[in-house]
Amino acid sequence: MKGVILAGGLGTRLYPLTHATNKHLLPVYDQPMIYYPIQLLLSAGIEEILVVTGGPHAGDFIRVLNNGKSFGIKHLEYTYQEKSDGGISDALALAEDFADNGPITVILGDNTTDADISKEIKGFKDGALIFLKEVTDPQRFGVPVFSKDGKIEKIEEKPKDPKSNYAVTGLYVYDNNVFDYIKTLKPSERGQLEVTDLNNLYLEKGKLKWSLLKGFWSDAGTAESLFRTNLYWARKKGADIT
Ligand code: G1P
Repeated sequence: MKGVILAGGLGTRLYPLTHATNKHLLPVYDQPMIYYPIQLLLSAGIEEILVVTGGPHAGDFIRVLNNGKSFGIKHLEYTYQEKSDGGISDALALAEDFADNGPITVILGDNTTDADISKEIKGFKDGALIFLKEVTDPQRFGVPVFSKDGKIEKIEEKPKDPKSNYAVTGLYVYDNNVFDYIKTLKPSERGQLEVTDLNNLYLEKGKLKWSLLKGFWSDAGTAESLFRTNLYWARKKGADIT
């Protein structure tokens, strides 16, 4: 299994911080944010990683990650998303050659978790696998709508009136059909190729599975969520900040 970290975008919700560097290089306690998804992938046995970046600070990644060897990454590749507001599925399309006909684990570079996903990764066969987490503010995320017998009927992107308290986290496993499916997507109202539309496509084909993420999970794309993420990891690593 290979891994893809999506670390593009302009990070406008974090201006003025992201005038200085890419969002995914901002600090989460004692490490740049992108270290956390890297460590998650490595701990799940994924040692070949593609970083999809974009925006004005893309060069900063080389200074921070270099060739990845000091992290234990066997093979580190970078690519550049020209349309910084093209959406998650548009960024993922750039991973087609890297995937080399195999499946891929995808993580958004601003998502951090201490869950262990190695079992799910090793057991993955085909279709798509998404990870859900119960949250108090589902309207910020992709949100699954469940049928009475507990099956996902559809996923709604940032619904005003969420039908469940679960977020679709930014952690996904896809078989190689993902690249053909992305080619059929149309831009959403906000002009992006949405990951939620991609997941709904797998759902329509009866090929979407889900798993609950155990442990802490947060994105870090807003000042509040970045601060919350910092607090969690600082405490977990034993910082004396009381
Ligand atoms: C994106 C996805 C959303 C998902 C979230 C997880 O939202 O569109 O479905 O729940 O990541 O972090 P964004 O962070 O781009 O607003």
